[in-house]
Amino acid sequence: MKRIAAEKAVDYIENDMTIGLGTGSTVKFALKKIGKLVNEGLSIKGIPTSQNTKKLAKKYQIPLTTLKEAGEIHLTIDGADEVDQNLNLIKGGGGALTREKIIAFHSKKIIIIVDDSKVVKSLGIDFPLPVEVVKYEWEATKKALERFNCEISLRKIMNDPYITDNGNYILDCEFDRIHDPEQMEIDINLIPGVVENGLFIGLADRVIVGGSQGVMTLEKEIIQS
Ligand code: 5RP
Repeated sequence: MKRIAAEKAVDYIENDMTIGLGTGSTVKFALKKIGKLVNEGLSIKGIPTSQNTKKLAKKYQIPLTTLKEAGEIHLTIDGADEVDQNLNLIKGGGGALTREKIIAFHSKKIIIIVDDSKVVKSLGIDFPLPVEVVKYEWEATKKALERFNCEISLRKIMNDPYITDNGNYILDCEFDRIHDPEQMEIDINLIPGVVENGLFIGLADRVIVGGSQGVMTLEKEIIQS
């Protein structure tokens, strides 16, 4: 399901585009397909949103650039952990939310690729909201986040804190549900120590959902098969 969504998104890539390359297991399928097309003659450049994606892009021989060098991003293809009916997202399951949001913000078009388990009525019911925080006095930042009525855990790998590509921690914030994602995105980022949060509001132009019956494309207000 992830693969069919990813491959459908790659159909939107045109010659000479600069492509934002998201992060995660769904994006991996897109990278593989892009690499195949590049080897067949497609001319594009990619901007990776994580060290993992950079490694994969190199493996699939996708030429890379930076936003500074390219000046613009025509299209970004990225995954998500949850998608609601307004195409608002929770991202950051793979820990790359800050770089992903920077690239999304500067992209002309954003296509999100997910399997159908990620489409939800309300954000935050099934997936905790990741918040990237600086290490310095992170416990105080955690305490300030508790004001939002969530259960917070420091993301760990085995017994060690998970470290982002930017050298920071991730606090995973579990809500019953997020009532006002637009406001919460703003409010969380006002807390000193918070680098970025995983709410992506109003950024996605199109969500391609892979399901057992094939793919479905969600666009703002429009649902097409
Ligand atoms: C990484 C992300 C990923 O796009 C998100 O976690 C989805 O990952 P996957 O495609 O592996 O389910 O936001 O920071």
